[in-house]
Amino acid sequence: MRRVWLDGKGDFDEWRMAARGLLINGVPPDAVEWRLRDEEGADLFAVGEAETSVPEQAVAPLPSLTVPRAFMTLAEAVICHSDPARLSLLYRTLHRLQGEPDLLAIRSDADVAALNALEKSVRRDCHKMTAFVRFKEVDAAIGATRRRFVAWFEPDHHIVARTAPFFQRRFTDMDWVIATPKGAAAWDGKVLHVSTVPAENPMLTDATDELWRTYFANIFNPARLKVKAMQAEMPKKYWKNLPEAGLIPAMIAGAEASVVAMAERAAQDAPLFHSRLQAAAKIAEDIDRPPPGTLEEVREEARHCTWCALHCRATQTVFGEGPSTADIMIVGEQPGDQEDLAGRPFVGPAGRMFDAIAREVGFNREEAYVTNAVKHFKYEPRGKRRIHQKPNKSEVQMCKWWLRLELDLVKPKLVVALGATALSALTDDRQHLADLRGQTIKLAPDRSLLVTVHPSYLLRIPEEGRKQEEMARFRQDMARVALFAQAAILGKELGRQRARESEGSRSDDIQPVG
Ligand code: URA
Repeated sequence: MRRVWLDGKGDFDEWRMAARGLLINGVPPDAVEWRLRDEEGADLFAVGEAETSVPEQAVAPLPSLTVPRAFMTLAEAVICHSDPARLSLLYRTLHRLQGEPDLLAIRSDADVAALNALEKSVRRDCHKMTAFVRFKEVDAAIGATRRRFVAWFEPDHHIVARTAPFFQRRFTDMDWVIATPKGAAAWDGKVLHVSTVPAENPMLTDATDELWRTYFANIFNPARLKVKAMQAEMPKKYWKNLPEAGLIPAMIAGAEASVVAMAERAAQDAPLFHSRLQAAAKIAEDIDRPPPGTLEEVREEARHCTWCALHCRATQTVFGEGPSTADIMIVGEQPGDQEDLAGRPFVGPAGRMFDAIAREVGFNREEAYVTNAVKHFKYEPRGKRRIHQKPNKSEVQMCKWWLRLELDLVKPKLVVALGATALSALTDDRQHLADLRGQTIKLAPDRSLLVTVHPSYLLRIPEEGRKQEEMARFRQDMARVALFAQAAILGKELGRQRARESEGSRSDDIQPVG
């Protein structure tokens, strides 16, 4: 019987050299006893015996060695297993391969099946190590620029050297040590050091423990809890070194109640990016289609608009109204509660305030085309009330399509922006309302924009003195609108008169014949 002494701590070359010597010398598997140096009861003096235990003389030399690549790959993993029997199993398989080169393909073979099972166990252990190592930051050395981390992990097998390159690639910009009872790995930015000397648990904690707990609590979905599957993924033996594992028992115990609570909670809107993505897809679909040609067609299309999430909660699209050739277009923000129900713009409190001031300055709203930057009511339900919410940039952006069509078809000479949302929908540059308020800007050669505040802003001012001041300024702005309207009426009247006159002079030119 040949006795071979090895360290057996996952060093494939150590086993390979010994196995090669045995095989070249034709030593049959049952004539070899594989022993580990730190086995209980191992003879300290046996270390010297290891060298001599590899046969020097051929027993029945083999003509040449057959070692398929697949065996080497398998053996490199299996050698990391902690089962001492792996050494003889590997040698027996290697020996058999000399006469049965296709042996590894026979998965039902007892030796092949045993090797595959050991390989699987090592693979799983490596995977768990990559998933469950938790680094803790320790003080950096004085003058050092790199942060330093230490982790403690308890693998089942001798996998530190096999798994260390993963950590080197993943955490290359920090110094780290992974200590385990089966050795340690350390990375200093230049060299990866691996040792098989058992390390001690440094028993560290740091702020990342709390981070792990927060992360875990947030990804935990009680409705999808399957305790067995969870424990297969995160076996209990690892829990003691995972800061987040302390939460698991309470989470499992409370899962049922959490699911009931989740089901009772009102449905919430999908995250914003959902509606943006859907809208972008919808717009991409619609972009090639020619826009509708008349205001009535546009209104009809807008009734079915689903480009952003606002249509889901609103009662209906509130499209603009007024003369289709109005010289003035009034643009608000979005319909409010009453407008949403009535399907008409500016019929609620803000509309009434607007109408009252317009009347005071002699402007008749019926002469203008009145619309909004956003055509659906955005709100937050609170009990029986629907609380107005400001439309966000992407909702305003989506709705610009409709506003642009209204502008193109109505062709107003003066557009009045009521508030910041209307201003941002009508001008592409990001200008502040306060800087432009009361000013007129050229939108096109024959179109001006008058910028003023939104009437609901006036309604919200709590202090009476300031409210009156702001109302007076709004009145001034509206007085300019009224003046423009009167001038437009006058201009049209004059135009008609001139037309009549030129009609008359042309008939005067016609002299009766004879
Ligand atoms: N506020 C607006 O901006 N538009 C309306 O139609 C009503 C209130």
